[in-house]
Amino acid sequence: MADINPEGLTILVVGNGGREHALAWALCRSPRVAQVIVAPGNGGTEDTMFSGARLRCAAVGVGDFAALMQLARDNGAAFTVVGPEAPLCDGIVDAFQDAGLRCYGPSASAARLEGSKAFSKAFMARHAIPTAAHASFTDMEAALDYVRTVGHRVVVKASGLAAGKGVLLPETTADAEDAVRQIMGDRAFGAAGDEVVIEEHLVGQEASILAFSDGRSIVPCLAAQDHKRALDGDAGANTGGMGAYAPAPVVTPDMVAEIQRTVLDPTIEGMRAEDAPFVGTLFVGLMITDNGIKVLEYNVRFGDPETQVVLPLLSTDLADILEACMDCELTPDAVQFRPGAAATVVMASGGYPGAYEKGAVIDGTRKASQIDGVTVFHAGTRRQRDDLVTSGGRVLGVTGVADDLATAVARAYEGVARIRFSGAQWRRDIAHRALPTQPKV
Ligand SMILES: Nc1ncnc2c1ncn2[C@@H]1O[C@H](COP(=O)(O)OP(=O)(O)O)[C@@H](O)[C@H]1O
Ligand SMILES: [Mg+2]
Repeated sequence: MADINPEGLTILVVGNGGREHALAWALCRSPRVAQVIVAPGNGGTEDTMFSGARLRCAAVGVGDFAALMQLARDNGAAFTVVGPEAPLCDGIVDAFQDAGLRCYGPSASAARLEGSKAFSKAFMARHAIPTAAHASFTDMEAALDYVRTVGHRVVVKASGLAAGKGVLLPETTADAEDAVRQIMGDRAFGAAGDEVVIEEHLVGQEASILAFSDGRSIVPCLAAQDHKRALDGDAGANTGGMGAYAPAPVVTPDMVAEIQRTVLDPTIEGMRAEDAPFVGTLFVGLMITDNGIKVLEYNVRFGDPETQVVLPLLSTDLADILEACMDCELTPDAVQFRPGAAATVVMASGGYPGAYEKGAVIDGTRKASQIDGVTVFHAGTRRQRDDLVTSGGRVLGVTGVADDLATAVARAYEGVARIRFSGAQWRRDIAHRALPTQPKV
């Protein structure tokens, strides 16, 4: 085992999911990093060495800004990286900066791009960024009138943060009225539904782009595609994400250039012009329609599970990139990717996204990690004495990396086959849109 670099940096990562394990893993790979502390972290980030750096957890919740700042100070953290959206929207970056601490991510004001869909839609309209036609409402009767008379199929969205559950896709006008009543009348998503965005229903393939920004320039990563539904063939309930792969061939190099010109650059310029410069990771959810690329939504942080496929392909140093963003010195050279592809298969608890049991003993993560090109990112796991046990709905993300997507997918599934826990469920068709089905011979 390599010695820890005594001059090396300590970095604090805030969050407890697969995304945060992947961030911590990528930061450990930086030769400048000696220690990554994840608060609160999970079973994969607890007391371990990786790539010459020490990885450990600290039992502090993502909403306890005072305790997180104390943790950063006590450990001399060079900077803090924030995984989830809620603390960003609640101003964690502003709080750290006010206290003289470096923190990677957008201010609360810039985080409105995710925290308020009504804000982001109005912002896109102000800056001519392509997106579905829409109207926003705080009055339920007005919203109901609109869906009765609009004359095309609509999507009804709670404007605020709703943990990925606040979007309803009604098929008929009557269903659309029900959707409005559910969100505004029954307050199915609480205060997140005090305002609704009603938009034109688009048809096409979805893709996501993660991009780093220093507030002035923005540099994209490889495009990724995730799988939101629980079951094969994109059937079943919506989940936090059952797998992902990158690069997504549906996004061609021409489209990447178009996205840069029509979406990424105007977003960063627009936020700067509105005195809310965006520094951090911008995640753009896109629909590729017959009428061009449209933005479905912005997220203001790394996506989960997209991060688990994008970061393993990054060939440059993540710590360098994040510092360049905070120092307003980001260049495209800093964000480079190795050739090849990555796929991650999420292993979930039985019953997820509905009710599920916790505490099942997990076997085989080490054996899976020994496969060439396979990394196991933990999400809902924790250590219980000598055991690793389940503690959440999405338990693990098994990532395979290879020179081509088919091999990356095969490696991920080889990893999955070595892992066992009671009730484990996973999709068998991750990356199916990008893989031609081979005729059986
Ligand atoms: N205008 C639209 N047309 C068709 N489908 C949409 C539209 N907006 C959203 N969706 C679908 O709903 C999902 C969730 O919407 P999104 O805006 O990404 O919200 P969130 O991720 O916050 O739940 C999208 O991934 C997409 O599948
Ligand atoms: Mg989304």
